[in-house]
Amino acid sequence: MEFFEYREGGLSAEEVSLSEVASAVGTPCYVYSKRAFLSQLSALREAFAEADPLVCYSLKANSSLAICAALREAGAGFDIVSGGELFRALKIGADPATIGYAGVGKTEPEIERALDAEVLLFNVESVNEARAINHVASRMGVVARIALRLNPDVDANTHSYTTTGKKENKFGIEFSQARELIGVLRGLDAVDLAGFHLHLGSPISTVEPYLAGLGKLLPFIEEARSNGVDVRYINVGGGYAIEYGDNTTVGPAEYAAAIVPLAKKSGCKLIMEPGRFIIGNAGVLLTSVTYLKRTPTKAFAICDAAMNDLIRPALYGSYHRIWPVKTSLPVDAYDDPGGEGGQIVDVVGPVCESGDFFAKGRRLPDLSEGDLLAVFSAGAYGMTMGSNYNSRPRPCEVLIDGAEYRVIRRRETYDDLIRGEVF
Ligand code: LLP
Repeated sequence: MEFFEYREGGLSAEEVSLSEVASAVGTPCYVYSKRAFLSQLSALREAFAEADPLVCYSLKANSSLAICAALREAGAGFDIVSGGELFRALKIGADPATIGYAGVGKTEPEIERALDAEVLLFNVESVNEARAINHVASRMGVVARIALRLNPDVDANTHSYTTTGKKENKFGIEFSQARELIGVLRGLDAVDLAGFHLHLGSPISTVEPYLAGLGKLLPFIEEARSNGVDVRYINVGGGYAIEYGDNTTVGPAEYAAAIVPLAKKSGCKLIMEPGRFIIGNAGVLLTSVTYLKRTPTKAFAICDAAMNDLIRPALYGSYHRIWPVKTSLPVDAYDDPGGEGGQIVDVVGPVCESGDFFAKGRRLPDLSEGDLLAVFSAGAYGMTMGSNYNSRPRPCEVLIDGAEYRVIRRRETYDDLIRGEVF
């Protein structure tokens, strides 16, 4: 989070004060640091340099066109999961030869568009999906390159909603079924089995799940090769964790030390699909305190951002560091309920659910109404999971680049809320 720091005038993103951004565009708003996400991309690339991977940024983490365009300029490819994400990737001029298409439920129109665009690979999750891709490709007179997503039954130790590599999950293909599927694929003319894919869950803070997954995948690749499959790609998915303030995680060097030797051993081109690692800590949600409310037992800071803007705390109980833009406590005190000074508050939004909170029992300085708070680690799965719940227009998004900033998505209006409706 080095690109967000206190300077004269309070909390800043790169060289721009967040107070200035809030006065210019209002709150709530998402603020992203371009240097922060570009430096994450570089860090990952450097760590994995020996394997020269194709880094496909997982667009679902944050699909802002301006952010994707900046990542494309920096050489990233894209991991997509829908026709809408394909549309976004093509819109910013992504090279289709750097796009991998994942997801368990690709529809025929989506498959057709992706084939038309000539994406690099479809990550296939079932025999029926393979048949559908073959059907569409054959109708179009093309051959679809596919990778089978395997389910290695490995526990990635994430929240149960975001674990994807266990046998009870809907994702991937179990190994013996994958063996059968390879047999089926021999009879399908319009698919080319070019590789294998794993994505175990998110966020994964240790290397063990990757080692366990690859430990099962590598012998399978050898077996497939001995059965005549020309395996060229190994996709190790995403899931690389970031620090949220309540956790520890290994860094890119450790992930690379575990994954690179195995990827090299496989003799395949390495593909990886980081989302959160690139953009998670490059964004904050800026909100202002509308009301302070005290009950006989608690203090609430009721903010103008809500669960519809950032649903992670409500959905996963996830921790997000919250710092005031103007400070009166030492920074470390804010994450320590057992510390001293200020007050303990629940930071909540105005939505009509008790699940509408950003933090419970958090130490903050004594706040005044109108104070600005920055909810950290909001760059990934913030705006993309946002909704209009309670008919709340979604916030605007601002991109900081050095001393400059610009609105990369305007705040929604009430008219936006009813666009497409009839009565
Ligand atoms: N590849 C595949 C096939 C995926 O399904 C995902 C994420 C990624 C890559 C990127 O994972 P990442 O590197 O960003 O961890 N909404 C949840 C996270 C859901 C992740 C879904 N799939 C959250 O807010 O934590």
